[in-house]
Amino acid sequence: MLAPMSTLDLGVLISGRGTNLQSILDAVSAGELDARVRLVASNRPGAAGLERARRAGVPTEVVPSRGFADRQAFDAALARVLQDAGARWIVLAGFMRILSGTFLAAFPHRVLNIHPALCPAFPGVDAQAQALAHGVRVTGCTVHLVDEGVDTGPILAQALVPVLQGDSRESLAARLLVREHELLVTVLRWIAQDRLRLEPPAAPGGRARVLLRGVFPVLGLDPSWREVPAGGRAGLSHGPTGRDRV
Ligand code: GRF
Repeated sequence: MLAPMSTLDLGVLISGRGTNLQSILDAVSAGELDARVRLVASNRPGAAGLERARRAGVPTEVVPSRGFADRQAFDAALARVLQDAGARWIVLAGFMRILSGTFLAAFPHRVLNIHPALCPAFPGVDAQAQALAHGVRVTGCTVHLVDEGVDTGPILAQALVPVLQGDSRESLAARLLVREHELLVTVLRWIAQDRLRLEPPAAPGGRARVLLRGVFPVLGLDPSWREVPAGGRAGLSHGPTGRDRV
């Protein structure tokens, strides 16, 4: 038996436009995710996502990194505003800073990140361009727990996205973003449903093992292999609508 749903108290960190934040806000207001966004915080005063939070009636806070003596002081201040707002789980939704152990210790194993690649591939900035440069046929997105590395923490779930011939960075990023929104909300729902368990690392310094009860944590491709018509281009259908067929 699963434990009853418990309302997630979320803090969301952003640095930019905030479409992943929007997917959380939409899911909460549609009753599809049992969560309260307690605070949206940004290191950048001009982050467009802050306006999305205000429109949804969610408190916002700007914590510019410049005002602090060092990284630890910034991370401690950021953790404090989130704790004071009542956040218990933290989502990095396009937050462009690496958080230190000082921040992570305030929310142990409760900080999530969404990355637009199949981790551990293509960490860091512009994962979409990295995927195109490598010529991979499939990329995707990952929701993982955050550790002190760059997109390296224990993986919770992944979604697959095909790279189509003729894709630009922009077209690939747009196709990824649709799946990111779906994956992020799905994983948060699983956490609210108390499906997430972590097993401590087998050896000191190892990775915690992630167990998700009763769900299959891969959002698939639904591929249909096709022959290339003479003079035509090959591609994969994507999802039941075939929206991205080439
Ligand atoms: C997303 O691609 C996310 O995976 C990455 O940063 C981007 C943020 O986009 N970490 P948005 O601000 O949520 O629109």
